[in-house]
Amino acid sequence: MDYLQIKGGRALGGEVEISGAKNSALPILASALLCENLLRIRNLPNVADVKTLAKLLEHLGSEIEWVSPNEILIRSDRIIHTKAIYDIVRKMRASILVLGPLLARFGKCEVSLPGGCAIGARPVDLHIKAMEKMGADISIEGGYIVAKAPNGLKGSDIIFDKITVTGTENVLMAAALAKGETKIINAAKEPEVIQLCEILKKAGVEIQGIGSNELFVRGTDRELLKFEEISVIPDRIEAGTYLCAGAITNSSILLKNVLPLHLEAVTNKLSEIGFGIEAKENTLKITPASKRKAFEIITTEYPGFPTDLQAQFMALATQCDGSSSIEERLFENRFMHVSELQRLGANITLRGNVAKITGGETLIGADVMATDLRASSALVLAALVALGQTQIHRIYHLDRGYERLEEKLSALGAQITRLKEK
Ligand code: EPZ
Repeated sequence: MDYLQIKGGRALGGEVEISGAKNSALPILASALLCENLLRIRNLPNVADVKTLAKLLEHLGSEIEWVSPNEILIRSDRIIHTKAIYDIVRKMRASILVLGPLLARFGKCEVSLPGGCAIGARPVDLHIKAMEKMGADISIEGGYIVAKAPNGLKGSDIIFDKITVTGTENVLMAAALAKGETKIINAAKEPEVIQLCEILKKAGVEIQGIGSNELFVRGTDRELLKFEEISVIPDRIEAGTYLCAGAITNSSILLKNVLPLHLEAVTNKLSEIGFGIEAKENTLKITPASKRKAFEIITTEYPGFPTDLQAQFMALATQCDGSSSIEERLFENRFMHVSELQRLGANITLRGNVAKITGGETLIGADVMATDLRASSALVLAALVALGQTQIHRIYHLDRGYERLEEKLSALGAQITRLKEK
């Protein structure tokens, strides 16, 4: 297994190119199951989760050609299997995204229950209830969701008790091939959901309400879709992570290939703390703060402050004057990075789902362990300012969602090396 070694205390500077969004690439890959033509997808992030889902599609019978690490050709008109096996799904819970398309197209499928992960139980009950509402018979057998809809799915009113990003995406893809109209109420409206809506609309599906919490979809009654070429939108969470790299080292960094509109809650918070933010059409620049004020964050669905940047801002809070507060409202266990940050000397106290961070402590390098994707990026950020050397272990978590992280950070001036555990 690999680990990262980081020597802290250096200012950063320069430019970083943001990759395609992992959380847009995943539903887009799953939607390839609805497509009858050869599909080209560009600007895919070269990360483990994307490779895992591509493997799952191949296992189902899609023909895949990697044009480059960031571009793929997929032909899915000759799919023969409808079972998403545990061995692949357990590696990446977003594999649940094949449930809607497989069921809508074939009228049956078996998808392994994804199981939980470090940040919480991650149930998929809302996905299952929605498929049942659309006419599927669903049972859980031996850890698999066994779904049947021999006459295809029928359009229906889906009211989500909680806003769910992949739940909304699953229903969108199911509704695209269902018979009749589907209304999704309390839908997620993250940029990644919007891109999926736009792709399906361009492929001939009638969709209204794009960008709102209420979506209307008229299905094609199992007629496959003709997709245009797709370019994945920039990754707003990767972008926010690099903004935090600039913020925590109080440096100037220019981000390229980014959509500032997708990061407004994040850039507003950074300005409030004291940083300069310059937004142009496809770039974002952060410049140093003369004083970094403590802040408050409550994570919520888009366009509010994203839970996927909660850990990164907690690392930043250790460098701000005074006591910051971060409340995690989406996941029940998304504070795994707290104990690791404390190993570096961070002064953090937890009370339920609220963390209080008292800034001003000098962080000292140590051995720490990554526990989940975004927690590991928070440890990298903290290591950039910790005195001496920090080793971050189990960085396979990082590789799931960050493309060439150590290369991009080295280019910004960080002293970071990937080494092999002995
Ligand atoms: C998506 O996960 C993202 N993943 C997550 O990013 C992100 O943290 C999350 O949305 C919230 O923004 C992808 O898009 C692939 P949810 P998802 O369904 O869809 C509860 C990352 O770091 N819920 O929006 O799985 C759930 O427990 C990852 O890139 C149910 O109760 O999240 C949570 O409390 C981590 N039942 C809340 O809803 C369900 O059936 C939001 O979850 C589904 C969800």
